[in-house]
Amino acid sequence: VLYPFAAALAAYLLGSLSFAVIVSRVMGLQDPRTFGSKNPGATNVLRSGSKPAAVVTLLLDGLKGWLPVFLVRVYGKPYGLEEGTIAMVGLAAFLGHLYPVFFRFQGGKGVATFLGVVFGVHPLLGIATAATWLIIAFFFRYSSLASLVAAVFAPSFYLLGDHIQWYAESPIAAALFVMALLLGWRHRENIGRLVAGKESRLGASKAGAR
Ligand code: G3P
Repeated sequence: VLYPFAAALAAYLLGSLSFAVIVSRVMGLQDPRTFGSKNPGATNVLRSGSKPAAVVTLLLDGLKGWLPVFLVRVYGKPYGLEEGTIAMVGLAAFLGHLYPVFFRFQGGKGVATFLGVVFGVHPLLGIATAATWLIIAFFFRYSSLASLVAAVFAPSFYLLGDHIQWYAESPIAAALFVMALLLGWRHRENIGRLVAGKESRLGASKAGAR
């Protein structure tokens, strides 16, 4: 009975590792919480000018969403961990990223971790969601817009797979939907800037970005 909660707690703690802050510190870069959008995420680390640091941040923040979901999905059955636990650990890792216990609960916007979770749920779902992000980012050059569109599409892609059913019947679909809502909420300032035409474009550096 305790396994699902132990797994969720472990996922939350893993999600709480804010890799934008950790990677920047290790690589001797400025703390991403002090410039640009002030968001501890890969996009803002990119504004420091270090592409490698941004890529490592993206991968590690993604990994912390992917790993718990993957482990439960592949090895959980003998321990009685089913779909509900997959949904719970994904959400827990995501919440850890947004509200990290190790960083005074001041975390990021959840994009990389959300992507990691969807890759963990199903590689094709991950590819479809990442492709959505890339297409929007390529054409519009806004990381935030790409993230918002990808977050809207991910739960829909999931339901379109061989999972066609109502959200209420699928804890994973429900978890993806809740994550997409939270992701949108965390982007409320970005949405304001997008509407006002003031959002910083990908490729803009620290000075131009807000
Ligand atoms: O990774 C979050 C992204 O969607 C927006 O980041 O720094 O432009 O607010 P940022």
